[in-house]
Amino acid sequence: GITRHYTLDIKMQNVTRLCHTKSIVSVNGQFPGPKLIAREGDQLLIKVVNHVPNNISIHWHGIRQLRSGWADGPAYITQCPIQTGQSYVYNYTIVGQRGTLFYHAHISWLRATVYGPIIILPKRGVPYPFAKPYKEVPMIFGEWFNADPEAIIRQATQTGGGPNVSDAYTINGLPGPLYNCSAKDTFRLRVKPGKTYLLRLINAALNDELFFSIANHTVTVVEADAIYVKPFETDTILIAPGQTTNVLLKTKPSYPSASFFMTARPYVTGQGTFDNSTVAGILDYEPPKHARTSIKDLPLFTPVLPALNDTNFATKFSNKLRSLNSKKFPAKVPLKVDRKFFFTVGLGTKPCNHKNNQTCQGPTNTTMFAASISNISFTMPTKALLQSHYSGQSHGVYSPNYPWDPIVKFNYTGTPPNNTMVSNGTNLMVLRYNTSVELVMQDTSILGAESHPLHLHGFNFFVVGQGFGNFDPNKDPKNFNLVDPIERNTVGVPSGGWAAIRFLADNPGVWFMHCHLEVHTSWGLRMAWLVLDGDKPNQKLLPPPADLPKC
Ligand code: C2O
Repeated sequence: GITRHYTLDIKMQNVTRLCHTKSIVSVNGQFPGPKLIAREGDQLLIKVVNHVPNNISIHWHGIRQLRSGWADGPAYITQCPIQTGQSYVYNYTIVGQRGTLFYHAHISWLRATVYGPIIILPKRGVPYPFAKPYKEVPMIFGEWFNADPEAIIRQATQTGGGPNVSDAYTINGLPGPLYNCSAKDTFRLRVKPGKTYLLRLINAALNDELFFSIANHTVTVVEADAIYVKPFETDTILIAPGQTTNVLLKTKPSYPSASFFMTARPYVTGQGTFDNSTVAGILDYEPPKHARTSIKDLPLFTPVLPALNDTNFATKFSNKLRSLNSKKFPAKVPLKVDRKFFFTVGLGTKPCNHKNNQTCQGPTNTTMFAASISNISFTMPTKALLQSHYSGQSHGVYSPNYPWDPIVKFNYTGTPPNNTMVSNGTNLMVLRYNTSVELVMQDTSILGAESHPLHLHGFNFFVVGQGFGNFDPNKDPKNFNLVDPIERNTVGVPSGGWAAIRFLADNPGVWFMHCHLEVHTSWGLRMAWLVLDGDKPNQKLLPPPADLPKC
């Protein structure tokens, strides 16, 4: 591989959407940020310079960061934030990965505007396991807030209520013509008939899983989270925040100058308030007969998306996702397991502290919303965990004693516990190098039934099982798929159900795991693994770079 240099200048930029101009935190003045391109095996040196008043850190979502945990990016987990006027060079090598990933800010809610695609091409001369596409197009979904997203989460965490929802969904930063005052801000993809396009879909939205479809077209799914999958055809994609999906779009030979809507809107299982609007982009066939026509005059075809709560579709879709598992790309599912964990994930409550005489907007007037894993609502430390561990100064920063089982035994068959209170803590689960882990995550659905896209930093994992109701340790493992399960970095734990994953802890460092619905992360649905060094020199975390930010 080669070494590629990038500079990302984090700076304020005026952006207008929905007739509303505001100054946002941007990358290089662009929204979304520029795409980063590399090949498998390349080293990336990405200098991030902070020109804004906010602290910043950038996470390269899905990059394995083998032994380079210092470059992972979550603030206070692997690094202190980059302060105003400072910079930090993220230095990592892409090992054994190719496909679509993305980067995003990993502090507060700044990822609302600070994100962009990462395109990893195969090594030079290595073909895709599918026909070479005519063109490749990144399409990154996001959420637009007219208000300042950081103010929204500050308000929500202080009052304990739900945050305000977004005002629009976006494709490549553009809400599209179904919103007021937005027709000119529409993503348009001009295509030639009879060609194959590789659409690199990324869900960078903060809080919503999305259905996506193109009118009158089907697509073939070929990759998820930068892992090749067994190709399958579908008219609709479901994609959770933190997930990426590559699809092939074959344009028809017979549609000269027609235009088609490409739309996305949320999949929601809970009852809370959410943004139920629809983002639309337009697929324009050449010749561009209508190039000068305004959107309202175009002959547009509109896709039919599943119902907002179509769990049946969601389940069928996720069951279709299988590792390619070919000779060249075998699924290396850990067959023996060293340690089995059972975590509960879900919403809970904590006492409201009536700060500044604010009213408590939680589920009762004395409680605030909290979220937890195994009943621990993870408190963010004020020093970075990885530095504390590496320098042997963990005392008072974290406790290396994450519970093996949920603190509150979840009663899977009886009435749900009426005590929804969570504990606070900064607890880490410690693993020895090369531990083979099986983790079952059970959604509790005690307060609100929402599915949780759980994201693990530093690893890909295999989703060996998924189901509804309560995980049965005697029965369910018998049906685990150990042959071709999907390998990914973010998995939906179904609402009122469970997901079982396996991974090999072959990457020393501190690795964050959290719900990629930003509101749940903010409420505490997060934890971290500490993977110790192995004995051999090539099994150890590399030393920290000299410019690593200080807290
Ligand atoms: Cu994309 Cu810790 O997240």
